[in-house]
Formats: sequence, structure tokens, C-alpha cells
Amino acid sequence: MRIYIVLLGPPGAGKGTQAQIIAEKLKLVHVSSGDLFRENLKNKTELGQKAQSYVDRGELVPDDITIGMVRDRLMRADCEIGAILDGFPRTPAQAEALTKLLADLGGKVVSVPFIYVPDEVLIDRLAGRWTCQAQGHIYHEKNNPPKVTGICDQDGSALYQREDDKRDTVMRRIQVYQEQTAPLIEYYRRQGLLVQIDGTIGIENVTDHLLKAVQEAH
Ligand code: AP5
Ligand code: MG
Repeated sequence: MRIYIVLLGPPGAGKGTQAQIIAEKLKLVHVSSGDLFRENLKNKTELGQKAQSYVDRGELVPDDITIGMVRDRLMRADCEIGAILDGFPRTPAQAEALTKLLADLGGKVVSVPFIYVPDEVLIDRLAGRWTCQAQGHIYHEKNNPPKVTGICDQDGSALYQREDDKRDTVMRRIQVYQEQTAPLIEYYRRQGLLVQIDGTIGIENVTDHLLKAVQEAH
């Protein structure tokens, strides 16, 4: 049985940070829809061109494009025992599509940790975030700085600040999250899958709580 974990939470909650850590510990693949879009933007693919204006404005990319992209990723061989999903699903239609796809693949969502963090903390986190060019490793200039400024500890590549982390775009992303993604909290709570995790307690503590939640689930 394939095991899928869905990380829910607003922009800057720490989904990517935690997904990178727990994917390694649980030997599952980290699938981030945001990273997939950024890869397509960088490589100027047709999909990247379709997604560009939405990502730049902090809007959600239309469901059909997003679902197709994630489906292709989850059907690759490295996902055969399951995956940690970060940033997907983000709408009720995406959640329904995921349930169907996983049933076809012979798996299901076993746990949905919801990482909650107040808005003012989110804004500070995104303003100070630095991301690695090569593989998307995540840092924060105060909370989790790299050993050498501007260089990724793990692969030595240059760090950059995301275009969509400008203050106005961040405000829009938080609003879009509230309007379109927050309803999934209730959706997964009704299914008995939701686990609330305080995302303000430091990266290692959040990881401990997440691992405990996931291990209790299966
Ligand atoms: P995406 O890349 O998914 O962005 P997001 O959801 O806005 O989330 P972020 O990546 O900004 O935050 P995060 O929770 O991963 O936090 P992180 O770990 O980096 O999506 C980007 C865009 O792509 C969307 O706007 C949309 O256009 C499109 N898109 C993506 N998926 C889509 C979908 N399903 N449907 C439609 N469109 C989609 O941490 C943030 C910072 O905080 C870092 O600096 C980190 O070091 C720091 N930090 C983390 N944890 C802690 C902690 N515990 N204590 C202190 N600091 C911490
Ligand atoms: Mg992320």
C-alpha cells in the first residue's frame, strides 16, 4: 500500500522545510507543486509559460494544469511507495482528484498535518527566506542561516530570494490561501486525517511533532 502524507498550511508555514527533512527520514519522495512550477518556469517549458502569470501574481494556477502536472509526477517510479505532498492539494477539486488518482495507484492519504502559524510571523519568514538554486534547500537569514552567506550548505549552489516573496504578493498569497485552501482543513478533519501542528516552535520541534503524528497514523 502506498502511503501519502499531505502537508497543509499557509505560505511560509514551513511545509517545504519540514517536507525536505521528513522525506529523508521516512524514505519517501518530496513532491512540491510550487517546486515543480518553479522548475518549469526556469526551463521555460510550455507548462511554465502557462503558469507564469499566476505564480507571479500569487494566484493559484488553474486546477486542470496543476492536477495534470502532479499526476505525471506521482506516476513516476520513485513514488512507488508513496510521497510527501507539499502545496498540493490546494482546492477542493484538487483534493477530489488526488483521492481518485491515489485509488487508481493503490494508495491513500494516511495523515494530513496542518501547520499553523500567525500571519505576522509568515510575512517575516517569507521576507527573510533564501532558497538554493540547485535543489530548493530552504534557509532563513535569522531563523536558519546558511554557514556561508548566500551559499547552500548542502550543495554549494547560490541562494536566491523568490520573486513571489515581495510583500504585496505575499499578502495576496495569504488571502488566496484563506479563500481557496483553508476549506481543506475542514475537509480532511471530517475524514479523520487532520493533525494540528504548532508551526511557531522551532524547526526541530516541529519535525518531532510531525514525525509523531505520521507514525501514529499508520
Ligand atoms: P508554493 O511554492 O507552494 O508556496 P506556498 O504555499 O506559498 O508556500 P511557501 O513555499 O512560501 O512556504 P512553505 O510553507 O513551504 O515554507 P518554508 O518551509 O519555505 O507555491 C508557489 C506558487 O505556485 C503559488 O502561489 C501558486 O501560484 C503556485 N502553486 C503551487 N501549488 C499550487 C497548487 N496546488 N494549485 C495551484 N497553484 C499552485 O519556510 C518559510 C521560511 O520560514 C523559510 O525561510 C524557513 O527557513 C523559515 N522557517 C520554516 N520553519 C520555521 C520554524 N519552525 N521556525 C522559524 N522559521 C522557520
Ligand atoms: Mg514551500
